[in-house]
Amino acid sequence: MRQRAASLIATLVLIGGTAAPAAAAPVTAPTESHSPPKSPVATGFGGAVSSVDADATAIGLDALRHGGTAADAAIATAAALGVTEPYSSGIGGGGFFVYYDAATHRVLTIDGRETAPAAFTADVFSPGGVPIPFDQAVTSGLSVGVPGSPRTWATALARWGHGSLATALRPAAALARRGFTVDATFRQQTADNEARFRDFPATSAIYLPGGQLPVVGSRLRNPDLARTYDLLARRGVDELYTGQLGREIARTAQKPPVDPAATRNVRPGLMTTEDLAAYYAPFRAPTKVSHGGADVYSMGPPSSGGSTVGEALNILATADVPAMSETDYLHYFLEASKLAFADRNAYVGDPDQIDVPLHQLLSPGFAGERACLIKPGSVLPVQAPGSPDGTYTPCPGPAVAAGPEYHEGLSTTHLVTADRWGNVASYTLTIEQTGGSGITVPGRGFLLNNEMTDFTFGPAPGDPNLPAPGKRPRSSMAPTIVLRGGSPWFATGSPGGATIITTVLQVLLGRIDRGLTLEDAIAAPRASQRNTATTQAEPAFSGSPAGAALTARGHVFVLAPGSLPEIGAAAGVEFGPGGRLTAAAEPVRRGGGAAGVVRPG
Ligand code: GLY
Repeated sequence: MRQRAASLIATLVLIGGTAAPAAAAPVTAPTESHSPPKSPVATGFGGAVSSVDADATAIGLDALRHGGTAADAAIATAAALGVTEPYSSGIGGGGFFVYYDAATHRVLTIDGRETAPAAFTADVFSPGGVPIPFDQAVTSGLSVGVPGSPRTWATALARWGHGSLATALRPAAALARRGFTVDATFRQQTADNEARFRDFPATSAIYLPGGQLPVVGSRLRNPDLARTYDLLARRGVDELYTGQLGREIARTAQKPPVDPAATRNVRPGLMTTEDLAAYYAPFRAPTKVSHGGADVYSMGPPSSGGSTVGEALNILATADVPAMSETDYLHYFLEASKLAFADRNAYVGDPDQIDVPLHQLLSPGFAGERACLIKPGSVLPVQAPGSPDGTYTPCPGPAVAAGPEYHEGLSTTHLVTADRWGNVASYTLTIEQTGGSGITVPGRGFLLNNEMTDFTFGPAPGDPNLPAPGKRPRSSMAPTIVLRGGSPWFATGSPGGATIITTVLQVLLGRIDRGLTLEDAIAAPRASQRNTATTQAEPAFSGSPAGAALTARGHVFVLAPGSLPEIGAAAGVEFGPGGRLTAAAEPVRRGGGAAGVVRPG
């Protein structure tokens, strides 16, 4: 999608010869493609960025070239993704930021998860004991949580940045002003959302220019978002939490601005200005497990990403994964995922509101108890959770239970940045569903999240992820940094809802245990087993010789959902000898990602 800063002058001439587009409404115009060439792999020195988008990666690299740290580059890249990946990220959403600080040799995380309004109750999505239809919950004010991304950006920059928020936002504001080149992925994502976008005039005015789907190759501008970024640059993110912008967000969530002619039942939200003012993005300790001689750091609760990936790695550490045949390896990968998901669903939620037995979930004793349930030659049925209580017996009898289905998708986005000092940022951010709630704050140019639908709808007594006032819904995001010998080896992460966990696990296993390069580990065909009777898979996975052998063993593969049966869209950076960096992105999924380095070579 998208356009390079260097082509700005030529592009403006194409649009009409003015360097300061003054249009209040977004505009598309036919244009030549000025996008930087997108490469899924780049090697070199001085810093690296990997994201799904060429403009965003270019902006992150510019931040590094101008003396920015990995944190400066990550926030500049994230702000640019708010322009070019507006259906997956932006200031109306949240995310999790994992950072390796080279000065202290420590990994720390920022929890920028959205919070529930104070008026949320356990039955908010199941009034009278009846869950409301999921798609109705998605496109509603009710699903909008207090955004966490702006506070995350300010917090990360204050702690690790060389530059200001204004510096990080400036290139993204310019990109929003001049526009990006629409590609087939963006058009398809818009088409998938067209019906609901039409019901919100503030949304269709931006993303259905002239009432039509944006044309591939045209340029899509968002001057409203440019002005919003300018405002945040001038006034700081308090403008969004306690200022006029916050009042508009609360009003929009409470009374979604639906087209009067629309027939959609758009439920009002419960968010107030007090909820926005109460928001904070805390630093939290990362999860850590050791695997294959490396230390794997990831995001702890309220994300289940780090604990579930970590538990599965611990289960797999009880077997000799590097020595296995491809079929045996994938069998163990799927079975370990199944067991870890059973435990995730039973025990993980917001640690500020429930007691998460994180230490036990990540203990080798618990992993040993779970691992011995796996049968080499047959497939386990859907599993009940184990007992992470600190007393472990080898192989308790298998307890079988029905597992709930969890939604997934291609929403969310992941980026990795590394700088010349050795700092690394691994950052996953989201507005939940592709297109979030579908609701744009009028005149402000960004979509509001529907993150509250990550709560369990209920009724489900005892579920750790039921809604509650101020609670953060359980996430699956797993931004990950791997150290070896105490130094960064590689960092990775992915979008994809609950499939994030299995994608990150598969990339880690491919790189650490199976001898793949990072780029090959990212490109490998994927499957996602989440404690259900069937396993979602890409055609290249189920159709492979190993896929056929796994089917013969009893695995049942179904196509991953969506207009393209893809799972995830990973990004990563690896640290080689002599300061050499390899940035890696998807070669095909989501239209391919953009890997870049400061000094190629
Ligand atoms: N909204 C996707 C996740 O948090 O996992």
